[in-house]
Amino acid sequence: MPFLQLQNVSLGFGPHGRRTEVLREVNLSVKENEFVAIIGFSGSGKSTLINLLAGLQNPDTGEVRMDGALVRGPSPERGIVFQNYSLLPWLTVHGNIELAVSRVFPKFSRAERRAHVERYVSMVGLSHAADRRPGQLSGGMRQRVSLARTLAMQPKVLLLDEPLSALDALTRANLQDELLRIWEHDRRTVVMITNDVDEAVLLADRIVPLTVGPGATLAESIPVDIPRPRNRTELNHLPAFRKLKHDTTELLLSFKKDRPRSSGPAPSMPAIPPADFSSGRRIVPTREVA
Ligand SMILES: Nc1ncnc2c1ncn2[C@@H]1O[C@H](COP(=O)(O)OP(=O)(O)OP(=O)(O)O)[C@@H](O)[C@H]1O
Ligand SMILES: [Mg+2]
Repeated sequence: MPFLQLQNVSLGFGPHGRRTEVLREVNLSVKENEFVAIIGFSGSGKSTLINLLAGLQNPDTGEVRMDGALVRGPSPERGIVFQNYSLLPWLTVHGNIELAVSRVFPKFSRAERRAHVERYVSMVGLSHAADRRPGQLSGGMRQRVSLARTLAMQPKVLLLDEPLSALDALTRANLQDELLRIWEHDRRTVVMITNDVDEAVLLADRIVPLTVGPGATLAESIPVDIPRPRNRTELNHLPAFRKLKHDTTELLLSFKKDRPRSSGPAPSMPAIPPADFSSGRRIVPTREVA
């Protein structure tokens, strides 16, 4: 039985008569401890899909299930890292994480709670900034706090909505490695939204492309059959890695070509330039995984 499941899920927004269906007949089955990356264009419905999995939104039709049970609302079993990292501005880094930890582990003693929070603050490299408030942090640091807060809750399922998108390439690469290390050490079910093909191939067991909306749906999965543990430097030399990036990018671009012009404004393109390997020039991916 799949651990996390969307069955024929459709969801739209807007008043009656002017309703736009964002997601149509979406089906997804995620196995326990599987790492799935969902990739798609901006505005296609990725955050909507994550909100459905989190239970923050209910489908118009269809069902969301976790471990066989119907998802009816949010739960600490499904930790979400929001795209806009939503931290409480009046609490410090430590305080933001501590608040979540005390909700999920109310029986911790003060010392246990402190040690637990410090472990996750250190995991994302923010020990030096533990006493700062979000207003005193850079965007990337805030995103790391948000990631640490969700990891510290030790949810069964991690729902990551473009958790690294606001970071510069180097910090992003570091955190990808960190995420890979954490996941390999402490496997759990992950659904990660990304618009970065490299990131998806580096991290995931399977890439699931989301077609262009309105009425977006998930296309057939692309398995990432590259053995683990993965090393970004070695990956760059693997023909299988290049092929996966190429195939994924081509598929995403084909969604835009298939789209009739009259169907509304085109969503903005994620940072995926067209693939061209024939000349030996590297155009895909978004950047070299250095
Ligand atoms: N609560 C809402 N009310 C009305 N429309 C909404 C709501 N939430 C999302 N939408 C619309 O649904 C569509 C998909 O939005 P969503 O945020 O899921 O896209 P996305 O793929 O996450 O985009 P991005 O990559 O830019 O984050 C958009 O057209 C958006 O305007
Ligand atoms: Mg989004």
